[in-house]
Amino acid sequence: MTAEEKDFTQAKERHEELAAEITEHRRRYYVDDAPTVSDAAFDRLMHELIELETAFPELVNADSPSQRVGTYSTAFAPVRHPQKMLSLDDVFEQSEVRAWADRVTPHVPDARYLCEVKIDGLAVDLLYIKGRLTSAATRGDGVTGEDVTANVATIGAVPQRLVSDGDYPVPERLEVRGEVYIAVEDFEALNAHQVEVDGPVFANPRNAAAGSLRQKDATVTASRPLSFIAHGIGEHVGFEPDGQSHSYRALDSWGIPTSPYWKLVDSVSEVFDYIDHYGDNRHSLIHEIDGIVVKIDDIASQERLGATARAPRWAVAYKYPPEEVNTRLLDVKVSIGRTGRATPYAVLAPVRVAGSEVEFATLHNADQVRAKGVLIGDLVVVRKAGDVIPEVVGPVTQVRTGNERDFEMPEACPECGTALAPAAEGDVDLRCPNAQSCPGQLRERLAFLSGRSCFDVDGMGYVACAALVQPLDPSQRVLDDESGVFALRMEDLLPIQTVVRDPDTGLPKHDAEGNEKVVTYFATKTGEPKKTTIQMLDNLEKAKEQNLWRVVNALSIRHVGPVSAQALTEYFGDIQKMMEADEAELADIDGVGPTIAAAIKEWFSVDWHRNIVDCWRTAGVRMREDVETEGSGLSQTLAGATVVITGALEGYTRDSAAAAVKARGGKVTSSVSKKTSVVVAGESAGSKYDKALKLGVPVVDSDGFDGLLESGVE
Ligand code: IVH
Repeated sequence: MTAEEKDFTQAKERHEELAAEITEHRRRYYVDDAPTVSDAAFDRLMHELIELETAFPELVNADSPSQRVGTYSTAFAPVRHPQKMLSLDDVFEQSEVRAWADRVTPHVPDARYLCEVKIDGLAVDLLYIKGRLTSAATRGDGVTGEDVTANVATIGAVPQRLVSDGDYPVPERLEVRGEVYIAVEDFEALNAHQVEVDGPVFANPRNAAAGSLRQKDATVTASRPLSFIAHGIGEHVGFEPDGQSHSYRALDSWGIPTSPYWKLVDSVSEVFDYIDHYGDNRHSLIHEIDGIVVKIDDIASQERLGATARAPRWAVAYKYPPEEVNTRLLDVKVSIGRTGRATPYAVLAPVRVAGSEVEFATLHNADQVRAKGVLIGDLVVVRKAGDVIPEVVGPVTQVRTGNERDFEMPEACPECGTALAPAAEGDVDLRCPNAQSCPGQLRERLAFLSGRSCFDVDGMGYVACAALVQPLDPSQRVLDDESGVFALRMEDLLPIQTVVRDPDTGLPKHDAEGNEKVVTYFATKTGEPKKTTIQMLDNLEKAKEQNLWRVVNALSIRHVGPVSAQALTEYFGDIQKMMEADEAELADIDGVGPTIAAAIKEWFSVDWHRNIVDCWRTAGVRMREDVETEGSGLSQTLAGATVVITGALEGYTRDSAAAAVKARGGKVTSSVSKKTSVVVAGESAGSKYDKALKLGVPVVDSDGFDGLLESGVE
């Protein structure tokens, strides 16, 4: 075999390996919405493959990942795109952007470059026929995508109908390409909500957007904060743009969102300025970006330049260097959350990434640790998911020494030793069943109840909560559950020493010598109460007056967060009534529903839970809200009536309208049935109004609402 033949054979083998690996990663990314390597690692594989193909063009075949765009799953009905959806060629150096410009500009007189940010979301193809949205599909393999019309219809930013402002008539047919994404701010709120309802936490906005869009049940999609920005058009009949920027102006005029960040420039040096500007400010945009797209603006030139099988020649994507770093995975520990969930955590050699120091990163559950393939002792890649939450991407396997070891999920709770168990059969998450007095769970519940969304007790921070339940000397423990929190006595607190813990992980902190940091938390060196301790006890006293919804929230009932706590308080005005209500009544409350109703019933069925309420009541914590009810002087015009309120009512919020009904003895429910006495239908009332008409239930409009309150159902 000659040297060249040997080179070719080696290249062919490596090419096959890379092609298989890339295809598998694409499947995980596009079909499972669960990538197992970072974008940067994927880009490196793709880069290597393209380099091989450049050196040995014979390796290129129709199945090569370089010739294919993505992949599509069979879970959704296939839709053929009117025009093929292409991808973009990526470059990683500014010099490659210049090389691209040098290649194409000879074919483009007076080249103008349209610079855009590359939105990190997922591509969709929208088809408007006579201005009406008729189909929406994911990109799939570029030729065929998945039908996500019902899901896309729930995205507020995507108009169902195009309207003309006079400048541009609505085209006969128009294919709009763009990106579905979740804004950074919405992503943070979504994950906070997921934590509240004990749902899965998303690794980054892109995964959250993809997972939310590709839902079989479009009502799930509707509950997620998806948004959309267009970045091109496909088939177009009745609209002939002369530039890409011209299309954007027309799309805007029809009500289709376009990027607020695009800019038209005349030279490559201005393209570099744009790249540098967004490189410096990439974390200040409304959505995440993974690079910059540069396009030749002129459409005639775009057509002349054409495309390869995969990507247009008239555009290029510049990818910013990834904000990823390598560090050592020192250990994997398990933390116990407020609801008892056992979550594996990576303990990392501290390292700076995307602007802050990272020491811990959640690994979600044992399956995730396995999926990531990390071993304790590995050098790992770490990045900030959504540039906020630290994430372990995967191991650097090439530098393994053989001394790394597997992580084993512990069988017992690391905080109290109770055997961990799945919450429900088949559940991947394990929980500590010792809910009442596991110090880990109780510490987290205390930190929650003293926090902003509950009693808001200044001076009762995370370490104070740890001190109350995890003193170094176990005989000094002052709380077995939260029932005694309003009966704490100064003299019991003063001697307590405790280990300082990280509020994000619950793990002990260490000093420079590696010893756990211990503090005498409540007393000064001379044994006097610290100022913060006096404040804590004073503030606990004041907290007894907090609004009732905060008290309800502070009970840590599964699935009950501030929003449902407010709905419950609004409805019952009294914890006793809430405790006595049956499940059907609870489920019927606007903002509650069957899952929360079942969780409330279950919570109150536990003796030590009811004891918390009793002890707090005895201590003087607010257990009733002073709402206007019977005896408040208002005549009970709606006594016995069941009222459904839908649409916007002039002069009322939804809550104040419901309160007005209740103050007159009425009951407010969310769904219309034959038992409904009256439906109050405000502006934009939808299906509830239709249902009322169908069932012959009386309807009053916004103007008739005051009359209803005054005279009852006529
Ligand atoms: S232009 C034929 N512009 O990036 C032109 N794409 O990696 C293809 N993307 O499939 C699209 N932001 O889903 C374009 N401003 C932007 C973009 C953008 C994000 C996505 C798009 C494309 C992928 C290629």
